Amino acid sequence: MKRRQKNIIIWGFFALMALSCFLPFLKTWFHTPVAEPKINWCPPYTQVFSYAIYRRTSLRLVGPFSYLFDGRHTYVLNTTQYEANFPYLQSYPCGVTIDRGGYCRRPVNQLMLILAIRSQPENFHRRAALRKTWAQQQEIMGFLIKPLFLIAATTDFEHMALVLEEAEKFNDILQWDFPESPAYLSLKERCLLEWLFLYCSTVDFIYKGDDTSFVNLRALIEYLRESSDSQVTIHGNIQTESSVLRHGRQRISFSLFPYHKYPFFPAAGALIMPKRAITPLYEVSNWIPVFPLDDVYFGLLGLAANISYRHNDRFYVFGMKYDVWLYKEALVVCRLSPEKLIDMWEALQQNSTCVMRTDEIKQIF
Ligand SMILES: *[C@@H]1O[C@H](CO)[C@@H](O)[C@H](O)[C@H]1NC(C)=O
Ligand SMILES: *[C@@H]1O[C@H](CO)[C@@H](O)[C@H](O)[C@H]1NC(C)=O
Ligand SMILES: *[C@@H]1O[C@H](CO)[C@@H](O)[C@H](O)[C@H]1NC(C)=O
Repeated sequence: MKRRQKNIIIWGFFALMALSCFLPFLKTWFHTPVAEPKINWCPPYTQVFSYAIYRRTSLRLVGPFSYLFDGRHTYVLNTTQYEANFPYLQSYPCGVTIDRGGYCRRPVNQLMLILAIRSQPENFHRRAALRKTWAQQQEIMGFLIKPLFLIAATTDFEHMALVLEEAEKFNDILQWDFPESPAYLSLKERCLLEWLFLYCSTVDFIYKGDDTSFVNLRALIEYLRESSDSQVTIHGNIQTESSVLRHGRQRISFSLFPYHKYPFFPAAGALIMPKRAITPLYEVSNWIPVFPLDDVYFGLLGLAANISYRHNDRFYVFGMKYDVWLYKEALVVCRLSPEKLIDMWEALQQNSTCVMRTDEIKQIF
């Protein structure tokens, strides 16, 4: 009796092993791909969440200390401490190696939007994908749109030469001479503000984001035209409860920033800002120490410059489901590979229509 039970267990075990080996085959066997339905269903109706964050801020500078108040907390930044921990970030003088003179010359009777896209020297294929899709010089609904890739330096001479060649061919690269590294990303924020202040104060709007993003320009321009506060506020996916991390890649020491939460900032550095924000942001960047995390740094500058934010859920900074209908509604989607971006772009060009499902129609009306 006992032996029979043992045999059953052993054979059962083998049978399970065999079954698990064949599982992938069985799966494809039973799961013959179903042909895509010809009709595209519309996505479920979504309510977009948007709200403005108005400032009641104050900035006070006393010796090496900046006192920033955001209506909830006071943050004291000790410049001496930042100079001790991140000397290069504080002292770098924004040396341009590839400049774009006259880039922002604004045409009469047109508004101008600059797409400032943070890239890296070696991301040739990403830039190529962006140029093939949304990051082209073009006119949309009375806006002249111009892309500008923000790049730092690398010790790879071949890459540097290729970047120079690319810059001459496309006229859309601005390069600084600090080393390209996540640790120095805040310098792109500071140097971009300086460059905008010096050479580009006539531009109407600036989009800022990464070379992994998709921007729905038509939707973005409609959005800018319709938002009553687009001329004075910074729009993005605003983080209001972001905790200060003490471990991992984004760790910040207690001596540098002795608070539990950061002030508000646009997540992932993806934002759209009006001309009016350039000068105040640049001015405070001369006083506020450079914070080692780029998006928090921008938040601190915005706070010091007393600029209001508007949060909008259509900035999908943490990625989004790969669905053409959702992309049609989105303003910005981050974290996209160049291949997916091109696929999505092609899908968006096809002028298909969607059909409302009857159950959804009932829901909405
Ligand atoms: C900050 O801006 C708001 C309007 O956006 C204004 O009411 C307030 O007085 C400003 N605060 C300071 C300190 O300038
Ligand atoms: C500011 O930073 C310096 C350098 O680390 C330090 O010696 C000093 O005690 C700090 N001041 C305050 C008030 O924390
Ligand atoms: C796409 O659709 C729009 C509006 O429905 C229409 O104006 C346009 O002509 C269409 N384009 C193509 C290529 O079918």
